[in-house]
Amino acid sequence: MKLRVVILASGRGSNAQSLAQKMHASPQNWELCALLCDQPKAQVLQIFQNLGIPTVDLDYAKSKKEAEIQLEKFLSDNRIDLIFLAGFMRVLSPGFVEGQWEHKHTRSKIINIHPSLLPKYPGLNSYERALENGEKVIGATVHFVDQGIDSGPIIAQRGIYRLPLESNQEFMARALKLEHDLYAYVLELIEQGILNQGRLVKLDDYHKQIACSSDAISEVLQ
Ligand code: GRF
Repeated sequence: MKLRVVILASGRGSNAQSLAQKMHASPQNWELCALLCDQPKAQVLQIFQNLGIPTVDLDYAKSKKEAEIQLEKFLSDNRIDLIFLAGFMRVLSPGFVEGQWEHKHTRSKIINIHPSLLPKYPGLNSYERALENGEKVIGATVHFVDQGIDSGPIIAQRGIYRLPLESNQEFMARALKLEHDLYAYVLELIEQGILNQGRLVKLDDYHKQIACSSDAISEVLQ
């Protein structure tokens, strides 16, 4: 199995970089075809140019519709199997998402990482809102993308407890590292074909994995 994939990102690019490194370590599984970015000055572009991975500017200047037509054309011209969103700060339109659903491996071919333990704190500034609410556990979720905002079937989640005397900045920095590890873990699930089989396998103290099938969430194993 060698999947042809792209990453979409908008800013700093730490998740995108971490994904690229993990894929680079398994060239038999991954063909990272390009990094697509909607912000011409984003740091992530420089990172990928330095890595020698093609970058594409997604042009949202005229309209979201035109940008999505450009994206759709790129995906079909390059026979892309899977799309990873990694700090991509745009909401893809429902029509675009539905257009990507016909896929041999998964229900949706778009996967996102979100910085909260969904369904809590969908949308923007999730860590900040969680901390304002005094949450003692924050974390991240990797999920398939559906037509809603951060509402698609969950693939994997992990959380961390706040340590005594830990500042908000330190807590969020640990959570960002957790995001990188969680996305790497999901790549491993895909490499092992576990997502393709329609269900996942275990629930432990640190994270729960929720089954995803072609009919969306099917089962949680305890
Ligand atoms: C991450 O927390 C990601 O989950 C969220 O935005 C942040 C992007 O960070 N969507 P980076 O660009 O991956 O460093």
